[in-house]
Amino acid sequence: VKLPKLQIGDVNIPNPLVLAPMAGISNIAFRILAKEQGAGLVCSEFVSAKAIYYGNQKTQDMLIVDEKEHPISIQIFGGDSESLVEGARAVVAVGADIVDINMGCPVPKVVKTGSGAALMKDPVKAWNLAADVVKAVDVPVTVKMRAGWDDQNINAPQLAEMLEDIGVAAVTIHGRTRAQLYQGKADWDIIGKVKESVSIPVIGNGDIYAPTDAEQMLEETGVDGVMIARGALGNPWIFHRTWHYLQTGELLPEPSVDEKLGMIKRHADLLIAYKGEKRAIREMRQHLPYYTKGLRGSSQLRKEMNQCQTREGLEQLLDGFLAVR
Ligand SMILES: Cc1cc2nc3c(=O)[nH]c(=O)nc-3n(C[C@H](O)[C@H](O)[C@H](O)COP(=O)(O)O)c2cc1C
Repeated sequence: VKLPKLQIGDVNIPNPLVLAPMAGISNIAFRILAKEQGAGLVCSEFVSAKAIYYGNQKTQDMLIVDEKEHPISIQIFGGDSESLVEGARAVVAVGADIVDINMGCPVPKVVKTGSGAALMKDPVKAWNLAADVVKAVDVPVTVKMRAGWDDQNINAPQLAEMLEDIGVAAVTIHGRTRAQLYQGKADWDIIGKVKESVSIPVIGNGDIYAPTDAEQMLEETGVDGVMIARGALGNPWIFHRTWHYLQTGELLPEPSVDEKLGMIKRHADLLIAYKGEKRAIREMRQHLPYYTKGLRGSSQLRKEMNQCQTREGLEQLLDGFLAVR
């Protein structure tokens, strides 16, 4: 496969593999792991532009960026120009190299406010909002969208063209409709159609779980980059393994159990530094099943993790897990 060179506006991305924005997941800790494993670009979880606008402290805490993370894209969502513009300026001020606008989130709470995927139903509004954000900041502005609202309204190619016209620097297409949520298979054809309809970079997204999936998407759609979300859960190695595979054709082995347990600890430590021990360990409960999926004894480990409160407890638990294997 021909390897694309991904450049977004004036931002050079070292390779075409992108960590997806994932609420509750793609925080500074997980982004650092993805970066260390070779992700070319990392995206933050979505941040409410309105909450930034109103100076919400929890939201401020989400906007911490580490030196190591660059280039980084910070994603904002909102349904009105004033807060999106303010939000965009704020994320640039904390170090975003790219501002991404969310036009794909399907959850009712977000859609109800006219943000996320609701913007695909109102392309003129989407276009106006994006234009305001493009004018407000000096860094490239990108948009992440779905194929469309539902099967009867597949408009990603048209919307992408409209956005290109007003200076949006790249688009990411998740090949599902809003109505599909996360079900069914992502439609890569629509991603290819978007690629044909614009000349800005297009990043394809949906159902990449293995290095060979990335290769297949690049081949079938001709996109400039691929974005990985669920395939990176408990699996930051996917970036290194995919990039290695794309460059050499060699499939590296899956990480060993030792490597997995080491990564769990590192993930926990990074989270602790950022959120404190209690919250970090609680959050690790959702990651553990992904890291240990398919390993003997993992369901017992998961049960024990639910009682675990401390870093020390986690260490003991993992040591015990290793000892009985
Ligand atoms: C837990 C979770 C949280 C997500 N949060 C966001 C988000 O904040 N912003 C966004 O644009 N997409 C979000 N998504 C969607 C993903 O970025 C991606 O588009 C989708 O999961 C399809 O890619 P995949 O098949 O690689 O998982 C989220 C997905 C998951 C599973």
